[in-house]
Amino acid sequence: MSVNLYKRNFLTLKDFTEDEILYLLSLAKDLKAKKKHGIFEKNLANMNIALIFEKNSTRTRCAFVVACNDEGACPEFLSKSDIHLGGKEDSKDTARVLGRMFDGIEFRGYSQETVEVLAKYSGVPVWNGLTDVDHPTQVLADFMTIQENFGKLKGINLTYVGDGRNNMSNALMIGSSKCGLNYKVISPKELFPEQALTDECGKWAKESGGSVTVTDDMADVKGSDVLYTDVWVSMGEEAQKAERYKLLTPYRVTSEAMKTAGSEVVFMHCLPAVKGDEVTEEVFESPASVVFDEAENRMHTIKAVMVATLSRNYSF
Ligand code: CP
Ligand code: NVA
Repeated sequence: MSVNLYKRNFLTLKDFTEDEILYLLSLAKDLKAKKKHGIFEKNLANMNIALIFEKNSTRTRCAFVVACNDEGACPEFLSKSDIHLGGKEDSKDTARVLGRMFDGIEFRGYSQETVEVLAKYSGVPVWNGLTDVDHPTQVLADFMTIQENFGKLKGINLTYVGDGRNNMSNALMIGSSKCGLNYKVISPKELFPEQALTDECGKWAKESGGSVTVTDDMADVKGSDVLYTDVWVSMGEEAQKAERYKLLTPYRVTSEAMKTAGSEVVFMHCLPAVKGDEVTEEVFESPASVVFDEAENRMHTIKAVMVATLSRNYSF
């Protein structure tokens, strides 16, 4: 596989081919194994990494910090209240300043446009740590976890239950359609993904041998290899809480839903989880749940993204 991601941005999996995604997953696997054996290559020695967070984070922030430390880079956490971005300074200027000092920039926030502007003007690799519409680094961790459980991605029946138009569902639909998974969204009609994105993903799925299905029928969990869910109220959408509960209560992942899905089904969630809402505590704590493997894999996959885009050792 001839793949070179040196100096590339990581804003959405839309920009990546199947081979490139598989390359990042295989690099993550390699770096995970090396860490388990106490081998640290310090691929990012002497580099400085800016971590911009407009929204809260546990996993993404810690994954970037630990990955930086493991690889010899120095991370700098910049919260919304620490810097001028979105206040008196526009993203274009912040991008140009940070690009003069840092080797790479992670951005988590509201608008996809902000991460695009940072990428356009900073001159250094920019990585999307979640926006209102996408969460591509999470999908790498999820796919790594699927590979660990099933030994493959192609042909896996990945069913997402819940808010079908949020960042997580979008990102999984994009990743699945690129890599040949059969992606199914089960959500109320009001929360179906945007038709334009579904159509775009449908085209990629045809090329990769996967499929994209959108339905409002919970009985369609049948035949799933993975049942995936996410919070009903994403960060920044708190005003929609009452409406979401009304719409989504029938779309909870329960033991019955798991049983209908199939005896070998695995439960996944990007976390944080609101147990009792989108998933019952019983399912969350069951042996079928691999949520903490996913959480750990955030670090290995984020490390792979930084190493692939920044390290000359991985530039061919
Ligand atoms: N899954 C995820 O992105 O978690 P955090 O919000 O804690 O970063
Ligand atoms: N959809 C969730 C994902 C959190 C990782 C949110 O945006 O809050």
